[in-house]
Amino acid sequence: MVFAAKVSEIPDWGKKVVTVNGREILLVRAKGAVYACETDCPHQGAPLSGALLKDAEHLSCQRHGYRFSLKTGACREFPEYTLKIFPVQIAGDDVMVEVG
Ligand code: FES
Repeated sequence: MVFAAKVSEIPDWGKKVVTVNGREILLVRAKGAVYACETDCPHQGAPLSGALLKDAEHLSCQRHGYRFSLKTGACREFPEYTLKIFPVQIAGDDVMVEVG
């Protein structure tokens, strides 16, 4: 697990792009939970920093509206596309991410 950001740096119902081990990842915070995923949509590569947080567990790409689970990365409507999700642990105010 590697330090990625402070929880307090991510707006609630918001996002923050960070670089961990030389790799950009997107942190998403909703309802007290923090998720980490790849920054680009697995469909056609739109930057997910502009995606909509549809509810506390789903990110909707702004380009074509594909909706991805922030827990599993699954896209229910188009299961052939999966968003890469990185495991997150919260330690105090620190967001720790396993980038593998
Ligand atoms: S690029 Fe994200 S849904 Fe098409």
